[in-house]
Amino acid sequence: MANIISGTELASVIKKDIKQETDRLSKCGVTPGLAVIIVGDDPASKIYVNNKKKACEAVGFYSEEIALPADTTQKDLLAVIDKLNKRFDIDGILVQLPLPSHLNEKAVIGAISPKKDVDCFSPFNVGRVMIGDYRFLPCTPAGVMELIKSTGIEISGKNCVVIGRSNIVGKPMAMMLLNESGTVTICHSKTENLAQVTSQADILVCAVGKANFVTADMVKEGAVVIDVGINRNEDGKLCGDVDFEAVAEKAGYITPVPGGVGPMTIAMLMKNTLTAAKLNASAAMKKTGKK
Ligand code: GUN
Repeated sequence: MANIISGTELASVIKKDIKQETDRLSKCGVTPGLAVIIVGDDPASKIYVNNKKKACEAVGFYSEEIALPADTTQKDLLAVIDKLNKRFDIDGILVQLPLPSHLNEKAVIGAISPKKDVDCFSPFNVGRVMIGDYRFLPCTPAGVMELIKSTGIEISGKNCVVIGRSNIVGKPMAMMLLNESGTVTICHSKTENLAQVTSQADILVCAVGKANFVTADMVKEGAVVIDVGINRNEDGKLCGDVDFEAVAEKAGYITPVPGGVGPMTIAMLMKNTLTAAKLNASAAMKKTGKK
């Protein structure tokens, strides 16, 4: 039976450290601030945004939710972002995705100042991850890296397989494993002989978005299996991409859903916001000549 890696427990330890550092910063007059923009009333997005707000409260950040109607124009949304880019009390700006289809997601993300892009979605910040010279890491893959590292298993030289090639999970995930000297393969919907590839993986990251997609025959004995999926099964119960019961019999380590990657994504968002606040504060001090 695999060891279960608890994202809930690891996230709680990370958030405790962030709170301590926030308390220290606040004594120097710096309170990290996160603005979260939500357009429309997608129920899942509302839950995610609410969880982010609660996490900000727990670590002592200032947070502001900007809820805009579903028919908000591109121009109006860009004007909101522009104002937030200029505010000194806001260190991080996050636009909850997906956006209503009439809005241009790429242009919206590109409008966020790279210094405040705590999702790490902008081309500038993605490029920095690519060359291994970054301030922020995208939250979900960063959370996955922490989960893998918590097992004590060395990534260097290992066969790492990522299923999924999205811009926000699969691609940066592969890059981050490569930055740690993993031997990385990215699989996707067109991959031939998928089970043959995945069953070579010492570390398997699944970000597909399909319940029970990864079955025990696709997993190597003793592998680390990280499940990024958030799906509902036929009974409406929350589940990941991995057939947890069967794969847990074979894997060495496995993350549950819920309680695995999800809480870590939010913890990493808090970490990025704290980093942004520190960078912004030191830039402001340089401007005023303060030490
Ligand atoms: N929608 C689903 N996950 C995310 C995320 O991590 N960030 C944003 N901005 N939107 C999302």
